[in-house]
Amino acid sequence: MSTKQKIQIPRGLKDVLPDEQKYWFWLENNFYSVASMAGFERIILPTFESTNLFKRSVGEFTDIVSKEMYVFKDKSGNSMALRPEGTAGVLRAYIEHGMHALPQPIKLFYWGPMFRYDRPQAGRFREFWQFGLEVLGDPNPLCDALVIQTVVKYHSKLGLKDVVVKINSLGTTKSRAKMISALTRFLSKHKKDLCANCQRRLKINPLRVLDCKTSKCRSITEETGTVLIDNLDEVSKKRFTKVLEYLDDMQINYELDPGLVRGLDYYTHTVYEVIVRGNKDLAIGGGGRYDGLIEQLGGPDVAGIGYAGGVERTINALKEQAVNIPNMIQSDVFVIQLGAKAKIKSIKVINDLDRVGLRVASSIGSIRAQLSEASKMNTPLTIIIGEQEVYDKNVILRDMKDRSQETILDRNLVKMVIKKLEEKGINVKPLSYD
Ligand code: HAM
Repeated sequence: MSTKQKIQIPRGLKDVLPDEQKYWFWLENNFYSVASMAGFERIILPTFESTNLFKRSVGEFTDIVSKEMYVFKDKSGNSMALRPEGTAGVLRAYIEHGMHALPQPIKLFYWGPMFRYDRPQAGRFREFWQFGLEVLGDPNPLCDALVIQTVVKYHSKLGLKDVVVKINSLGTTKSRAKMISALTRFLSKHKKDLCANCQRRLKINPLRVLDCKTSKCRSITEETGTVLIDNLDEVSKKRFTKVLEYLDDMQINYELDPGLVRGLDYYTHTVYEVIVRGNKDLAIGGGGRYDGLIEQLGGPDVAGIGYAGGVERTINALKEQAVNIPNMIQSDVFVIQLGAKAKIKSIKVINDLDRVGLRVASSIGSIRAQLSEASKMNTPLTIIIGEQEVYDKNVILRDMKDRSQETILDRNLVKMVIKKLEEKGINVKPLSYD
């Protein structure tokens, strides 16, 4: 291969270019704010962990672990995997740092990249980002409703409309076993019509047949109807009813979905997905309860529930609904300079404005580039400095809204900028000025 040949981004990966950043900033900032207000604390975890962590939590026979995980041996021969999701790492850290000895529940949130060797298509990448919440140590049904409420609040804060929560219950581990036998009996009747993969799944992990996307299997699984929920035991049914009552009290828009099982093995009781209604319903995130999983990973018998949303899919939904994203990096004034002498003067002007605590933006590009940047940043005021203004010891102050311009003497500039901003109702808190 020629060394000059262009190297392209690997399939399924993407660059997030400057134009997209406002969405990422909007999602990340709002997530930190909503999660923190709801009492969650941030955790940052490694992007790869020992392969066994995911086998023992997400499940060895799930598509995620058996087909989609990036697995490699490190130089010591240990098997490592790029994390395909965030829950397993959070639980590993909870156990490892003895968080169960602290007052419960422990509420954690995370934001970061996940990796799955999925078939790339619209909204599906091999490296994608998730925002996630996990509550550990609270088995109460109210906790399920509160997590869902936080998730719904976040989406509404983002400006998304037509958000629906699809919800189901898989019951206790015991009840789940009964549901799986009923499902196995149902699917066995159609065994010969299932794809080869699902015939194998039917033997080792029948719930996963419900994840199959082939039309052949779908036409069978769509007939599953209420097989699962009909086999839910009384205790689990009661618990689920409580969750739904709390959601009613909170006026959360939910829909029962008796076929919802989610593609990961660790769920018990409540499972749910967040859907954005549109031309085509778009699933942007999902979660559920996983009582028993912490114990399964070598920790104490502690309950847990969580949620993870896809950043890229949520951004797609915002774009589809044409939600207006405010510019989160607001500046008060943009300084434009024309020519070498003006550039030097602009350094002093920027410094003077900076010193009193104003948010000053500038750029060193061509005039066109500077003007386009100023309009993109949506600053209320622009200062223009040309050669003439250098000699006359003044600048042009332009109001970006009504496009009026006036010439201001250098010595009056800071005062004048603050006055203009205050007239516009922009609350500037200058550090000091004469
Ligand atoms: P999940 O349903 O596997 O759940 O993933 C959650 C979300 O991540 C999906 O709804 C989707 O938005 C996004 N996502 C998944 N795969 C891709 C992909 N290939 N490309 C783009 N986005 C993707 C979990 O990961 C669980 N850990 C959620 C959870 C937290 N359950 C309890 N706590």
